[in-house]
Amino acid sequence: MLTHSPELPTQPAANADKTLTGIVHTPVRHFPTYGLLTLQLPAMQMADLAAGRYFLVRCGAQSEFERLHQWHFYTRQPLFVAGIQTLIAPPVDHADSAPSAPTELWTLHLPFDPGQRKTTNPAFQWLQSLQPGAALNLIGPLGQGFGLHPHSRRLLLVANAWHIPTLFTLIEPMLDLGGHVTLLVDASPSPHVPIDSADMVDAADVVTALIPQLPIAVEAHVSVNPAEFEQELSNAIPWADQICAALFPHQHQSLADQIRKHRFRLESGFAQVLMQTDLLCGVGACLACVVSLPSGSHTRTCIHGPVMDLTRLAQ
Ligand code: FES
Repeated sequence: MLTHSPELPTQPAANADKTLTGIVHTPVRHFPTYGLLTLQLPAMQMADLAAGRYFLVRCGAQSEFERLHQWHFYTRQPLFVAGIQTLIAPPVDHADSAPSAPTELWTLHLPFDPGQRKTTNPAFQWLQSLQPGAALNLIGPLGQGFGLHPHSRRLLLVANAWHIPTLFTLIEPMLDLGGHVTLLVDASPSPHVPIDSADMVDAADVVTALIPQLPIAVEAHVSVNPAEFEQELSNAIPWADQICAALFPHQHQSLADQIRKHRFRLESGFAQVLMQTDLLCGVGACLACVVSLPSGSHTRTCIHGPVMDLTRLAQ
């Protein structure tokens, strides 16, 4: 006997169980190193607080009935925020018609495998198959995100090519303040992908795909090897008054070293970093996201991150 309707949701909703129903507005768009999925969600009016935060998305199930019975993707998948756009509600036809609830378009980042131009995660592949109008169940947005300092006007964004979109929502607020934004992208090939592999990422493709996604005022540099990336960092760090980064964990120490080299010390608050860890429960219960800190202690990135000050992550 069915206890829940098998019908698929057709409208965005904030549900009684504190989850959200999102409706696919634009299916996954493919870029060389990531995908972007745009959902229609109930309006949350938190655009200023979204950078570096994530949703846990239930995959393989659309209706409440499917959520109860289909468990081939039993863990929710973390998708980070890459854009928010408020939708203008259509005019109400009749005076006695109820106005439709306000909604927003949230674009979420679907990461590809590091060093590659595709995902092998079956749950992400399921997300790639969704068409407009498909329903998704989400929890979020979760976690501590990036924060722009009130007096910052020269923002340096630093990312590897696979995680650039997690920084996108920082750009417009800084430009709106009259500030400047520089984006440095490390598109170095992964040592794990053979040089002649069809999955190898071409830096020229990254540039071609990236430029149309950025406001014209953003200065972007894409580096094709670690030495070039280090040189770009050397040029930009003295100029910046705040850094927000989405790098692989093994790059955090070298970013800290570069900052010390060019500014003599790494001050708390100067550089924030989006930690890349496994995020399963999002509430501190499963310990999947625990990372070791140079201080010798451990922390749960879902609670105390995923955006953390670089002084906590590097010596
Ligand atoms: S994701 Fe479960 S404890 Fe952090």
